[in-house]
Amino acid sequence: KRPIIIDTDPGIDDAVAIAIALFSDELDVKCISTVNGNVGLDKTTYNALRLVKFFGKENIPVVAGASKPLLRSVVDASEVHGKTGMEGFDFEDPDMSLLRNESAIEYMRKVLMESDEPVILLPIGPLTNIALLLSTYPEVKSKIKEIVMMGGSTGRGNCGVMSEFNFHADPEAAKMVFHSGLKLVMVPLDAGINARITKDVSEKIRTMNKTGHMFYELFRRYRGSSFETGLKMYDSYAIAYVLQPDIFETVETFVDIETQGEYTSGCSVVDLKGYLNREANTTVVVDADPEKFKQWFLTSVEKCC
Ligand code: BDR
Ligand code: CA
Repeated sequence: KRPIIIDTDPGIDDAVAIAIALFSDELDVKCISTVNGNVGLDKTTYNALRLVKFFGKENIPVVAGASKPLLRSVVDASEVHGKTGMEGFDFEDPDMSLLRNESAIEYMRKVLMESDEPVILLPIGPLTNIALLLSTYPEVKSKIKEIVMMGGSTGRGNCGVMSEFNFHADPEAAKMVFHSGLKLVMVPLDAGINARITKDVSEKIRTMNKTGHMFYELFRRYRGSSFETGLKMYDSYAIAYVLQPDIFETVETFVDIETQGEYTSGCSVVDLKGYLNREANTTVVVDADPEKFKQWFLTSVEKCC
């Protein structure tokens, strides 16, 4: 099994990515680290613990990370995910004593240094924890296979005019990751242009199993009217890339993050046309096959509890 660390801010689409990773027979989830993002750190951590309980996976370590961005003040996305961050389903209260004492970056360092095989990092929230990990413990770099992150856009944003939420929330952290020299895969907003979770797919999972039912309830609440027209379940595209990359079309190109712009900070500058004449540093997802994604999603939910 391939070792993987999920760094997350659950988050409705985070919950989907976590479920699919936990029930995949190809992956060994070493830990779930939480970060401030969609809602505050206390809530994202609480949600991660609610999820491991729901899935009967309380053996998976949950560790809490950064409670705020590196330099900026906190922004959240509670208008999308609801006040709790996972509004729409009535989860049981988690066992808070399962939260590890170590901070996320200490725990990640331990996992990485002890791993025989290089580990995949899957950040699906703001990149604060990952930036802190790489700057505090640079020795972990040789233990990271690749960073597959949900974030950014090749065009316009979903939070700022030009910026996607995860990068917008902590542009300096995102910039550090793009300057890390590590193997990077960016799964941006573009992945969701064609591959959406359509209403018929939501109806199918509703009665599939208890996870499908829980997703259905969350989906009804997420982004209001798009339940009818097709949901963009962003973080699920990142885990889909790890498990079935042939769903996606990618390009190798240079990416950097704008941190100075008056209106554009957090914008991912994806140099698709080579204007900057810089060497490629990122594999960028530019499109997804809707039919393959749909089949993959249904098969993945079927494997859940
Ligand atoms: C990203 O922002 C969050 O709201 C989602 O969980 C996802 O990680 C999409 O822009
Ligand atoms: Ca997220």
